[in-house]
Amino acid sequence: MEQKLIEIRDNAREELCGIKEKEGLASFKVKYLGKQGLLTSVLRGMRDISPEDRPKIGMLVNEIRDEIESKINLKEKEFDNVELLKELENTAIDITEPGKAHEKGGLHPLSQVYDLLIDSCVNMGFKVVDGPEVELDYYNFEALNIPKNHPSRDMQDTFFVSENILLRSQTSSVQARSMQTMKPPFKIISPGRVYRNDSDATHSPVFHQMEGLVIDENISMADLKSMLTILMRKTFGEATQIRFRPSFFPFTEPSVEVDVTCPNCKGEGCRICKGTGFMELLGAGIVNPKVLEINGIDSKKYRGFAFGFGVDRVAMVKNEIGDIRSMFRNDIRFLKQMK
Ligand code: PHE
Repeated sequence: MEQKLIEIRDNAREELCGIKEKEGLASFKVKYLGKQGLLTSVLRGMRDISPEDRPKIGMLVNEIRDEIESKINLKEKEFDNVELLKELENTAIDITEPGKAHEKGGLHPLSQVYDLLIDSCVNMGFKVVDGPEVELDYYNFEALNIPKNHPSRDMQDTFFVSENILLRSQTSSVQARSMQTMKPPFKIISPGRVYRNDSDATHSPVFHQMEGLVIDENISMADLKSMLTILMRKTFGEATQIRFRPSFFPFTEPSVEVDVTCPNCKGEGCRICKGTGFMELLGAGIVNPKVLEINGIDSKKYRGFAFGFGVDRVAMVKNEIGDIRSMFRNDIRFLKQMK
């Protein structure tokens, strides 16, 4: 019996040395230590052994089982380590590879121009007022002295939602709302999105305006002119000149178109200003007393001036953008140039 056990032990030692994989280890374990294993079957023969020899044989069996078990465990750990090393090698990070830089964003040219314009106006004491883009016909037109079917509505190709609801075609709608809710004297600007059914290189169905309104006693064209001169100089540079040309708007009387020194050629005359040295930019005028009355302001006591212009146009001229539509395409290459 003892002889047999020693034989089993020696065979096990030898076999274990030849095992090179984890799978082999598992079947080895079954072969020696399993229920039908070699060592187990020897134990079954214990009843044939004389009682005085039993403790000795039992000890030997235990010794051999412990040895085999601990050797299996050791080998298992070895295999695990080899696997781990292999895995580490395969998934190694190349720390010398150049990284991907996080791209920095920039403000859209429109936001840049809005910031500049709004800052200048706020410094002059204007309050920024907001209003709805889906607007009542009443605030967009009627309260500004443009009754239904008035021919001047043709100037603004309007998107109607229903008979009395539209997408605002001018931020002047905010002026009407403000006149009805604010107590004069006040100075407001209303920057925002407006909509007109028009689309080519210089017109987009959605574009941006900024309008201003000042209501006070003794307001005159001189106030309008000085205020606009300051705003345009802050926007386009200190050498900028402005000039007034007579015009017509139903909500101002008298009305003017305001030209500014062409920011591209500084007045020399170029392709952008068609050789005139000036660029047409704003509509403005003294608020028509009729508009004051419609909106509940005493026209005997108060007067006002108003102005409005396209912010997209300012952004285009300042950044030499040829097509207004490129500002709304979200092309990252375009936006990168505007940082
Ligand atoms: N609202 C006018 C437009 O969109 C511009 C304007 C504003 C003219 C204020 C005069 C006074 O064309």
